[in-house]
Formats: sequence, C-alpha cells, structure tokens
Amino acid sequence: MTLYRAAILDTPDDPFTGGRLRAELDGGLLVRAGVIVDRGGFADVRRRHPEEDLQTLDGGLLLPGLVDTHVHYPQVRAIGGLGMPLLEWLERYALPEEARLADPSYAASVADDFVRSLVRAGTTSALVFGAHFAPATDALFTRAAATGLRITSGLVLSDREMHDDLLITADEALQQSRALARKWHGTGRARYAVTPRFSLSCTDELLAVCGELVREIPDVWFTSHVNENLAEIAQVHEQFAGTYVGSYDAHGLLGPRSVLAHNVHVSDEELRLLGDRGAGVAHCPASNCSLGSGLFPLGRHLAHGVRVALGTDVGGGTGLSMFKEALQAYFVQQLRGPDGIPLGPVHLLHLATSAGAALLGLDHVGDLSVGKRFDALWLRGADDSLLQLNLRNASDAEGALAKAFALGTDAAVASVWIDGERLAP
Ligand code: GUN
Ligand code: ZN
Repeated sequence: MTLYRAAILDTPDDPFTGGRLRAELDGGLLVRAGVIVDRGGFADVRRRHPEEDLQTLDGGLLLPGLVDTHVHYPQVRAIGGLGMPLLEWLERYALPEEARLADPSYAASVADDFVRSLVRAGTTSALVFGAHFAPATDALFTRAAATGLRITSGLVLSDREMHDDLLITADEALQQSRALARKWHGTGRARYAVTPRFSLSCTDELLAVCGELVREIPDVWFTSHVNENLAEIAQVHEQFAGTYVGSYDAHGLLGPRSVLAHNVHVSDEELRLLGDRGAGVAHCPASNCSLGSGLFPLGRHLAHGVRVALGTDVGGGTGLSMFKEALQAYFVQQLRGPDGIPLGPVHLLHLATSAGAALLGLDHVGDLSVGKRFDALWLRGADDSLLQLNLRNASDAEGALAKAFALGTDAAVASVWIDGERLAP
C-alpha cells in the first residue's frame, strides 16, 4: 500500500449541474492493489494508516488521469498542418501519412511514439482512431497493452472518396474488424470500437456492415466524425437522404456507447436524436480552430442533454495535452459571446477527466474517490517555471486549477499512474 500526500483536486459531481470542486490542499490518498482505499486530509488519513509507505508529492497538483475521447494514432507525426480546411488538410497532409502505416514496421514505431506521447501528456484513457490497416491497428493495441494505457480503438473503415490505398471492401471490413475485436475487445484494458472514418468516405453498404458489427459484438463501442466542416457537410447531404447524424442512425449506430467527434454545425433535430439515443460528442476545440471548422455550440448540446467531453483530435489538433485542449474549449466559449457557456477551471477539469470517463463508460476511473482505480497524474513544473511560480501564488484550490489549465504542459506532467502503477513519463 502507498499513502500519497499531495494537493488533491477532482470533480466527482458534474459542475454543469451544480457540482463543486473537491479539493484537499494537504490531502492523503491511500492506494492498495491499484484501488483508492482511503482519502481525506493528510493528518487524518495518516492517523488511520500510520505504517504505510509514504510518498510526498510536494508542490503541484494531484489530478485524475486525463481522458482523451478523440485522437488519431496514425497522425501523431502529422501535427502542424496549418492553414488548410478539413478536406484539403486530409488530402494533402493527413492521408499521405496514414497511407505509410501499410508498412507494419513503420506502423509499430508510430504506435510506440503515440502511446509514449499520450502517457507523457498525462492521458490515461483514450478513444483512439486506429489505422486503415489491420496489422497497424493491432500494433496500437499491442503497444497500449504493454504500457497499460486504457484504450478503446478499432480499424478505420472507408470504401469511397479517399486515397485508393486506404479503401476496403465491405466484406474485408467485416472480417478484419471481427478478427481484431475477437482478439482485443475486453482483453486487459482494451476495448474495440467500430470506426467508419466518416459518412463521406462510406457507402451505405459499409455503414450497414458497421451496424452488423455493432449488433454482433457485445458491448462494442462506435465512433466516427460528424458535422465538422461546412463543405464536408454539404457533400454528405448530397450523398445521403436526411441529416449527417441520421446517416449513422439509419444503420443503428447510435447509442450510449457511441461517440461522434466535432458536431460543430448541428441542427436541433440532430441534437434531439443524439440526446434520445444517449450518444456522446467529443468536442475538439484546437482542431476546430486550427482547421477553421467553427466554434462549438456547447450550450445547445447541454440544453438537449447531449453528453460532451474533450478530444485532442491529433493531428487536426495541435498536441496531446488535455490542459491545452481544455483551455482552448474555454477560449471558444469566450469567443461565442452571449451564446457561449462561461467555463471556469472546475468545468475544464470535469471535461478533461470525469466527463470523458463517463462518455467512455469508464465508471471505475475519472475521479479520485475511494473505491475508484488510481489513474492519476501529478502536475508539477520545475521550481523556476511560470507554472510553479503561479501555483505558489494561487489564492485557493480553484485559483490553482485555473493556473494549471492556463500554464499546464506535457513538460509539467511529473508522474502518471494507471491502476496504481507508476508509468515513466
Ligand atoms: N474527418 C474524417 N477524417 C478526419 C480526420 O482525420 N480528422 C478530422 N479532424 N476530421 C476528419
Ligand atoms: Zn478526428
């Protein structure tokens, strides 16, 4: 057993419905076999457990592990394609890199980079777009299992409108997805997600295969993109009768284990459908800003009861740091003016941790309550860093959290634990 002494902050109760920050600035947290078994003020927890090994995390903040609900592993080396809208960026920048993952040894080294970079950013759980190639998707699952990362992922499927070498037939999609799901769904911390790239790159026949997989594989996840960019949406409307969200719903793909990324330009009819189905949305503000996609209507999602968490959407996004992503979500709502939802640091922590865990059905993580698995990070900059300078001068726990989101970077992630096991950052 290990007793951690730290400033402990988390959001067990949703701040969008009145929940408040839970904070122990001199806290104690006892972990046994990966599970949090006691928590409180340090002096009290120490009194209850005088003999346990003590680890003092001095300065900085102990936070729940971050949850990235939308990120593309094959794009980890393709960050920084600035100045292009979505479809041009895919064509010129992202897809040529994705095609390189046809080579299994190249894919294995990209998977290595991706998993290591995700952990360094303090991310402990993620819903990850795999590759268009089964061996490359297998390589991601293999690397994540070796590291301990909690991932949900799947083979990315397209049968139209993409580079030829990224296309698959409906039958191949069925067989290869099935085989990967059989190997990885429920193996260790891995789960499988049926992953058509987006309606634009899928025929109805391929989406029907996705529906077959969703019905066939117990508790499988579903993820894709939706309503990201106006030119993309116009093409989807030419291709399918009905709405963009409806193109997935027509094949039974929307439910509580479905996560659609972006959803920037969405109608009320579509929001009602998402709310009715219990499907979640991954808000990817850095990508939406970088590709000029638009300013996410968070308030309308909340009003329709659509669950929202954050995704970095690398490489459309500009990095794997969920601190930066959450700060960008704050900026976007500021820029929406009167239509924006004013986000405070407690909302940002919730969106980056407990909301993400809930969206991904990971009830055993997301906050640092007794009984939860110990997935956590210690945010602690160098003594002379601007982050530490500001943390030392924070007025209270909420003020410290605001500084964490304003100034937190991958470099300040000093330790990461998954299931109580410390991973090298
Ligand atoms: N839509 C389809 N593919 C992608 C992708 O790789 N990134 C983003 N941002 N949107 C997409
Ligand atoms: Zn994406």
